[in-house]
Amino acid sequence: MTPARRRDRAVYTRSHPALFALLSLTRRAAALRIGRTVLVHGTDAYREALTRLPLDRTATGTTGGIAREVSGGAGVLFDQAGDDHRGARRALADELSAPGVERLRPLGRAVLDRRLADLATGRRVDVVDVALELSGTVTAALLGVDLAARDLTPRDLAVAARVAAAAGARAHLPGPLAPRHRRTAHTAATDLVALVGDVRAAMLAVAAVNTIVAAVPRAVAWCADDGLWPQAADPATRPALADELFRVLAPTPLLPRVAAADGTLAGRPVRAGDRLILVARHAARAHDRDPDAVAAAPAATAQLVFGAGPHACPGARLARAQLVDVLAAFAPHRPVVRRARVDRRAALPGWASLEVTACASR
Ligand code: HEM
Repeated sequence: MTPARRRDRAVYTRSHPALFALLSLTRRAAALRIGRTVLVHGTDAYREALTRLPLDRTATGTTGGIAREVSGGAGVLFDQAGDDHRGARRALADELSAPGVERLRPLGRAVLDRRLADLATGRRVDVVDVALELSGTVTAALLGVDLAARDLTPRDLAVAARVAAAAGARAHLPGPLAPRHRRTAHTAATDLVALVGDVRAAMLAVAAVNTIVAAVPRAVAWCADDGLWPQAADPATRPALADELFRVLAPTPLLPRVAAADGTLAGRPVRAGDRLILVARHAARAHDRDPDAVAAAPAATAQLVFGAGPHACPGARLARAQLVDVLAAFAPHRPVVRRARVDRRAALPGWASLEVTACASR
């Protein structure tokens, strides 16, 4: 196991050790039933589940269901069904089109230039904090939220989106604290809606911030630990490296879904109402194929970390552009990791802080 993989494993093993062990033990089966739950590990089976099997996208415990509950029944973006969803998705496609992304990009680059100046002077930089400001800045612009007018910073927006996501993920866990967790989640969602204007914007902020704040520090750590800075520095290999890093990080490693009709996955029967755990991490071969921009995995496999079919992630282009810019900004400093702390409460596996300095030999 490479040093990067060893470090990165901690984001799973220190936050959800039992779940990680179960998924590792069962990963050789393309699809495996445990009671009414089907674990889906295989690349083809994962794709089939997202493109061929009818899914109940508002069921309790799915991403869409959680959004709906937390927002008091108004989750229009992640419940992934109905006219509301189609309309919202069309509008979003414009905002996240290639020209839309190119309009947002300079804002993120300016944050990176300013925050990484500390590396040049030998100071430590917390990559998580940089990712908060980066994603908060880009998301505020995407949503057209004027934070300064309300005396707020991009970081405030990102933190609100992080808190809402973490509380939302906890809200559907069973146990005696469930009612309290649901109340906390509702409050956090209400705060975020108040900050960004409406429920749709809040859902988008959750998606845009949490994925980037999870992925960017893990990507920087991976480059630092496995000596990938030369590939990151070279404009010819940088985009492929970004895709490879997304593939091995699989920032949303599990997609919880529910089957809406009977069908099959990897030749095994699935019944309507079965809970499906779609393991993006295994479908994309994140667990057994290291990132390499020169010998990259096929695009069809790598892009599975953004889902598949009509509901696939509309933010993938923006996410890629941000990671490419992050790699370009960090690479000249050849950073090394000085200190890393896992975030055990976050909705997505990641670091609570990841401190780096420029390579000592510079
Ligand atoms: C590291 C980056 C990201 C990853 C790995 C990721 C992954 C995903 C995945 C797996 C899905 C579900 C797809 C499916 O069900 O087939 C999804 C949906 C979604 N993502 Fe992303 N995402 C990322 C970044 C973003 C960004 C930056 C935005 C917004 C700017 C965004 C907005 C959305 C939205 C709105 C949906 C719901 C789509 C729908 O309901 O049709 N994502 N994402």
